[in-house]
Amino acid sequence: HRQSTLTDIYKLYNAKSPISVITAHDFISGAIADDSEKVDMILIGDSLSMTAKGYRSTLEIPFEEYIYACKSVMRGVNNKFVIADMPFGSVESSDEKCIESAVKIMSIGKIGSVKIEGGKEMAPRIKRLNELGIPVTGHIGLQPQKFNSFGGYKAQGKQACGAQKIYQDALALQEAGCRMIVLECVPHKISKYITEHLEVPTIGIGCGNGTSGQVLVFADLLGMLDAKTGKFVKKYMNFHNDAVAALNSYGTDVKSNRFPENAQNGFHISEDEYSEFL
Ligand code: KIV
Ligand code: NA
Repeated sequence: HRQSTLTDIYKLYNAKSPISVITAHDFISGAIADDSEKVDMILIGDSLSMTAKGYRSTLEIPFEEYIYACKSVMRGVNNKFVIADMPFGSVESSDEKCIESAVKIMSIGKIGSVKIEGGKEMAPRIKRLNELGIPVTGHIGLQPQKFNSFGGYKAQGKQACGAQKIYQDALALQEAGCRMIVLECVPHKISKYITEHLEVPTIGIGCGNGTSGQVLVFADLLGMLDAKTGKFVKKYMNFHNDAVAALNSYGTDVKSNRFPENAQNGFHISEDEYSEFL
């Protein structure tokens, strides 16, 4: 089976077929995401800093640790189109630093696009990457790497002027050559308006159903963490609680001698060999 390309994603977009995206944070989540026929695309989100690595924000993960995580995800992926985040600290200081970081990410192989948080101010840098043959996905609205200046993780564009800025940022990113744009926590009417006025797919999270696609964080969707999630998350499983319950069953079995069972879970030696051993 061949790996999906941007062309495949654009086929869905042009057919107005909603694009389903899920993040992945390690080999196992990558392999699970890759196996779902109903998932169109995988995002190696830097949210993995918090979900897989336990940092308090995406600001804390060292670049090399993020690269190791990307590599482990990609060992599990054969089929899907993959976007990888550019983590905090890898894009801000200069065009050169940004290019160098993007090259390191793309060099992992089988990754189809890098995603950069930021609007108009990032457009020239994004244009450079596109000219170098590195497809860029934009990310506007709530930008978790900027939570300090945003005053927390808050919905963006709830006032006319803020919404207008997000729209102008989207146009600037499209102009700079972004192939897709992630919108995060923007009122659904604004996300829909932006989507209808762009010629590139929008992928929404907390943006309602008017975007070209949806993305959720793997660990959120499966309830893998014992933590509250945003109202925009739909939990399809309660993995954390189910996993704790399973471990409790295992521990109980061990303590009551119900596990292991020699016949089922053990290895046999013949009577002859055993006599000789004795
Ligand atoms: O890091 C991430 O998971 C993301 C998505 C939520 C868009 O950037
Ligand atoms: Na991210």
